[in-house]
Amino acid sequence: MSLLEVRNVIVDYKTPGRRPVRAVAGASLEVGSGEIVGLVGESGCGKSTLGRGIVGLQKLTSGEVTLNGVPVSPVGRRARPRADLGLQMVFQDPYSSLNPRRRIWRQVADGLTGAEADSSARKVAIELLESVGLSAAIADRYPHEFSGGQRQRIAIARALAPKPSVIVADEAVSALDASTQAQIANLLVDLTRERGMGLLFISHDLSVVQHIADKVAVMYLGRIVETAPTVKLWESRLHPYTDALVRAIPSLEPDASAPVAPEGEVPDPAAPPTGCRFHPRCPVAMDRCRTEDPSLVIVEDSRAAACWHQPAGGPAVRLELLETRTLEPR
Ligand SMILES: Nc1ncnc2c1ncn2[C@@H]1O[C@H](COP(=O)(O)OP(=O)(O)OP(=O)(O)O)[C@@H](O)[C@H]1O
Ligand code: SF4
Ligand SMILES: [Mg+2]
Repeated sequence: MSLLEVRNVIVDYKTPGRRPVRAVAGASLEVGSGEIVGLVGESGCGKSTLGRGIVGLQKLTSGEVTLNGVPVSPVGRRARPRADLGLQMVFQDPYSSLNPRRRIWRQVADGLTGAEADSSARKVAIELLESVGLSAAIADRYPHEFSGGQRQRIAIARALAPKPSVIVADEAVSALDASTQAQIANLLVDLTRERGMGLLFISHDLSVVQHIADKVAVMYLGRIVETAPTVKLWESRLHPYTDALVRAIPSLEPDASAPVAPEGEVPDPAAPPTGCRFHPRCPVAMDRCRTEDPSLVIVEDSRAAACWHQPAGGPAVRLELLETRTLEPR
């Protein structure tokens, strides 16, 4: 059993008078203790919606999220953050999530629970600020006195306060300059390993994910279409969409071919294509791709892909729990 298990999660956004948007359309993934899973995919594919659904900030239409085997974010329940169960989220813009009028140690202390929240709150908050690389001397300052990278450190300290088991970091480094990106990403890696947490690192940028993630989950139009250990993904890709994302990464190798962005636009999730959702953009689409929807199956050790093209060499083993494609009516 993994620390975090996400099974067949569906999230519909319903707006009166408009077609519902199925932003997450049956997504499944796992995150282990001390493990970093990078969730990648183009803008609008549902990464944030899935992340918010996992931590309880977004109501699930169906599916299941469990933490250490315990269900969290039950289907149909009103959305509420599940800090009490050990789930925390770090966002792209720490400035909007920090209170401009509260001293930073107090904002970190707000997340403390039990005895720590009482008399020792200031001391514990300062220890948390130090654990993210900030000095005790800045504890009484306000958010506007800090740079973007420092503010993200404060937001991470605050997320750590309730001792989470899993942190979902949604584009947590995307707004930072390249060197600060690397520092904050490395901080998240170190904290994940030291504390034995799980980290779901959401990013539209596969080149950032490749540096820090143990495993990559590739999302396309509401579904996970490939999962693989990061190192394996650089050797080969099982899904044409993953291949397109990898080809879009600029390489530092002198003889490397120029990066090529995936062709075409992401379709409207309110009216997804029939069959394989990627077929209108897939360079190797076959007839069956237009009508039959491929499920995520394990095709070799610790790799899974949702594609009718499978490597030769025997039948794929079905990954039972990821297989249900009986989608909820909208
Ligand atoms: N509150 C909402 N109401 C209706 N549709 C929404 C809402 N939030 C997101 N969507 C739609 O759901 C889909 C998934 O959005 P989401 O923000 O989860 O994608 P994303 O992968 O995080 O994108 P990005 O990389 O731009 O952050 C998109 O089509 C988006 O337009
Ligand atoms: S199932 Fe078909 S259309 Fe979809 S990614 Fe595979 S080959 Fe391409
Ligand atoms: Mg997003």
